[in-house]
Amino acid sequence: MGKLVNLSDLLVHEPLAGKSGIGHTRWATHGAPNEINAHPHRAGPVAVVHNGIVENYKDLRARLAAAGQTPESDTDTETVAMLTQLHLNAGKSPVEAARATIDELEGAFALAFLFDGEEDLMVAARKGSPLAIGHGEGEMYVGSDAIALAPMTNRITYLEEGDFAVLTRTSLEVRDLTGARVTREMRKISMDAARVDKGGHRHFMAKEIAEQPSVLSDTLNAYLTDSGIALPDPGIDFAALDRLTITACGTAYLAGFTAKYWFEQIARLPVEVDVASEFRYREPPITPNTAALFISQSGETADTLAALRYCKGKASALYSVVNVPESSIARESDLALPIHAGVEIGVASTKAFTCQLTVLLLLALKAAEDRGHLPPAARDEILTHLRALPGVFNTALGRDEVIENVAQELAEARDILFLGRGLMYPLAHEGALKLKEISYIHAEAYASGELKHGPIALIDQHVPVVVLAPRDRLFDKTVSNMQEVMARGGRVVLITDAAGAESAGAEAWRVIQMPEVSDLLAPILYALPAQLLAYHTAVAKGTDVDQPRNLAKSVTVE
Ligand code: AGP
Repeated sequence: MGKLVNLSDLLVHEPLAGKSGIGHTRWATHGAPNEINAHPHRAGPVAVVHNGIVENYKDLRARLAAAGQTPESDTDTETVAMLTQLHLNAGKSPVEAARATIDELEGAFALAFLFDGEEDLMVAARKGSPLAIGHGEGEMYVGSDAIALAPMTNRITYLEEGDFAVLTRTSLEVRDLTGARVTREMRKISMDAARVDKGGHRHFMAKEIAEQPSVLSDTLNAYLTDSGIALPDPGIDFAALDRLTITACGTAYLAGFTAKYWFEQIARLPVEVDVASEFRYREPPITPNTAALFISQSGETADTLAALRYCKGKASALYSVVNVPESSIARESDLALPIHAGVEIGVASTKAFTCQLTVLLLLALKAAEDRGHLPPAARDEILTHLRALPGVFNTALGRDEVIENVAQELAEARDILFLGRGLMYPLAHEGALKLKEISYIHAEAYASGELKHGPIALIDQHVPVVVLAPRDRLFDKTVSNMQEVMARGGRVVLITDAAGAESAGAEAWRVIQMPEVSDLLAPILYALPAQLLAYHTAVAKGTDVDQPRNLAKSVTVE
């Protein structure tokens, strides 16, 4: 139970001998996280690990009960092992038994099987959840993604939807949904184990926050040439579009929400943005000249992948903004746009978010050019500000101590509100999400103008209110919202620039002053104080910053 270190401690006292093994850090879908429900699950000679959900496990259990087999755990995974044993008992070979079992499963899963007495055999299968095969020296690996396998190998074969793999220590045989043998490409993945460490920081999240100036430079260098914005082939002709739908989850969704403002304000392109779990079941009509854009750091989020598949054959094109170019979402897009953030380990997304925003802003600028709304001079001015952004980020990182001091005081709060207007409104949601997911403090975001329509009833001296407000054209309106809060005893943390601090800082409870940045780029820069506020609050509370409770880095289940 709990962290992997508990298992490695146990193995010191009770070492396991053997030439092959399977294990899984379980994200509980059925059954509490306890030893009985831990993976691998075993039935007779079969052991199984499983990522995903078997949706028809209750029906299968009824069938197994009729065959006299009763489960020991509360999990859907044990049902897979028991069903495989049933097929073995009926005389099937291990591979046939696994195949027959998989054909009867409904839902989303990635599976690995081991069989007693079969020392040189592992069976793996994927349907809905990602699975990668690692090619070692005289050994083979199966993992959820390349990061899990990075310490052992960088030679990776990604299984496709419905693939069934039979591995020995020196061979791999893959069959597709129809049972036909297929060859899946073996790729050399660019990451290595050295890059998957904390680099002297206390947490991965701290490292990834600090990396932002350099990875933002990488992102800009990947898309900016002397003549302007260059997209990978076949590029995107935004002039042909009437509408763009943007779909994602969590922080990636909030990047898309921010991009809505950019596309509509700069390129005059109507944008619908939605969380994938709603979009896929709302079944929105997709008109012929609508393109669909999906944003995902991992490229494996089940809801986002399902939304992409809903749009296949309906939208004029499928685009994705991803951090893993080999991921499922990237591979199923017509054009995948990498964000070049490097491996992001912390569950709370930070550098991926700002790199997503940077790519999305470049896309909005490209759209504005294509649609005749951005004269070259205006474009060049914005690109000049963008090229300077990594340096501004570096300066803003110097505000870390001020932010840490504010965070120490926020750590006592039970509820915190985040307010923003215009481009700062999606960012207010991101600030609230960052804070709640790693410090476990309840935090909500509101459009500043919405406060008086109900939420202001929450305000008293126990509820800090974080206001994200550079001195832009909406600043004065936001200041009046701030004053409404302070008139009711609310404590305002004002995150602003020098002009904003001069104008309204004296009234605020605390001020975090950011370097100057153009209004258009403010959401990218102001993500930094939101990240640092969340980080230092969580550290003050002693929570597990890199692996917060109940969360996974990539949610590959519905
Ligand atoms: C963000 O900090 C969270 N870890 C979570 O909301 C995440 O953004 C969401 O699960 C989407 O993940 P993806 O970008 O890999 O699709």
